[in-house]
Amino acid sequence: MSHALEELRRIAEKVGTPFWIYDAEVIRQRIADVRYLTDGEGLQARFAMKACPATRVLREMQRAGIWIDAVSGNEVLRALGAGHAAGNRPPVVCFTADVFRDNALRVVLENGILPNIGSAGMIRDLAQAGYRGPVSIRVNPGFGHGHVNACDTGGPSSKHGVWFEDLERTASEVEAAGMSVVMLHAHIGSGPQFEELHDNLSRLAEEYAQLIGRFPAVEAVSLGGGIPHNYRDAHAKVPLERLRALFVECRAKLVEAAGRPLRLEIEPGRYYVAPGCSLVTRVTDLKETRSNAKGQGVRFAMVDAGFVDLVRPAMYGSYHRIEVVGKEDAPTAGELVVAGPLCESGDIFTRDDAELLVPRALPEVEAGDLLRICDAGAYGYAMSSNYNSIGRAPQVWMEEGGRAELISRRESLEDLLKAEVSEVLG
Ligand SMILES: Cc1ncc(COP(=O)(O)O)c(C=O)c1O
Repeated sequence: MSHALEELRRIAEKVGTPFWIYDAEVIRQRIADVRYLTDGEGLQARFAMKACPATRVLREMQRAGIWIDAVSGNEVLRALGAGHAAGNRPPVVCFTADVFRDNALRVVLENGILPNIGSAGMIRDLAQAGYRGPVSIRVNPGFGHGHVNACDTGGPSSKHGVWFEDLERTASEVEAAGMSVVMLHAHIGSGPQFEELHDNLSRLAEEYAQLIGRFPAVEAVSLGGGIPHNYRDAHAKVPLERLRALFVECRAKLVEAAGRPLRLEIEPGRYYVAPGCSLVTRVTDLKETRSNAKGQGVRFAMVDAGFVDLVRPAMYGSYHRIEVVGKEDAPTAGELVVAGPLCESGDIFTRDDAELLVPRALPEVEAGDLLRICDAGAYGYAMSSNYNSIGRAPQVWMEEGGRAELISRRESLEDLLKAEVSEVLG
């Protein structure tokens, strides 16, 4: 993603720093990739909108015929508000969770959304609310894991889904409550390597194929999300042809085992949006510590973005490429730890998953320079918070051809205080 220095400076003058900048062209290319992956009979892609719920992104998905996986009542409402269809014929928006909270159950019922249940207790909640419609069951197949070890998407220690050996019992409970199981779902995560994802998806399809005969009402099987994005190498490519061939093969296997047509779904999140947005932040100062008996001295580039904006490095030790805007091709001049403004020592963008500082080789940096923290589109703004009462940074959408549009403004103190009330509860 390359936005000219002048352009970013101009936007920074208008909206201040830090800010998020989307690249429409990059997101559309990733959508085209996923459309290619699912361009075949009975294949359907969803967008796991938790990765990036911006209405502008949801509209791009809607226009491209990508369905939605939502994980809260408000996510469902955001998707509907962006133009995705309600109802379950077909289930354009699906609701995946292990728990109904807040408005989720009501939103699912009022809009005819397909519930993808991850816990048998949700059957009780649906039945008590008078629901007698179709459901999907999220299965924990006993294997798989996410992009880092902290993302535990399958196996004995994962909280997600119904353990595979309990699937038939859960399905009987669904039937006994007057509902029917129309989809089987599992999300086993990206895994750090493509080969691992490929093997896990094949294994998952194989296990579904052995089960499918016992589920006569099932119309669809979902392999979940998890197409990886390489955060270290901007030129790395996922072998899309192999993945497409795998999906076609998995569907054929399932159709054969079921003896009827079935839909095979995937629901990536990260892959669509990770490279399509950067967090732009300003260097406010450079300072250093000196080596002593406790450890080695480091040089810090202090910036105005923190983990309230992009939490992935602080939360998982995730790696994001960092560029000095306007000096992208300049030689490296030293190693810097990039640190933010929050009153937390872990407010560091250059660290690993053992919570150790990993200084980054960067060109000469001066106070006032803009840094671009790359590949921040997935679980970036979506995970930003109001810790320290700072307010979320604005989002800017850069259209192909260069027109920049503010799509969410910087949150103000009034925004933060809006929900504060003084109501006597008796
Ligand atoms: C149920 C479900 N589906 C899809 C995804 C998307 O995963 P990814 O962004 O790795 O593709 C997630 C991510 O947590 C998920 O929980």
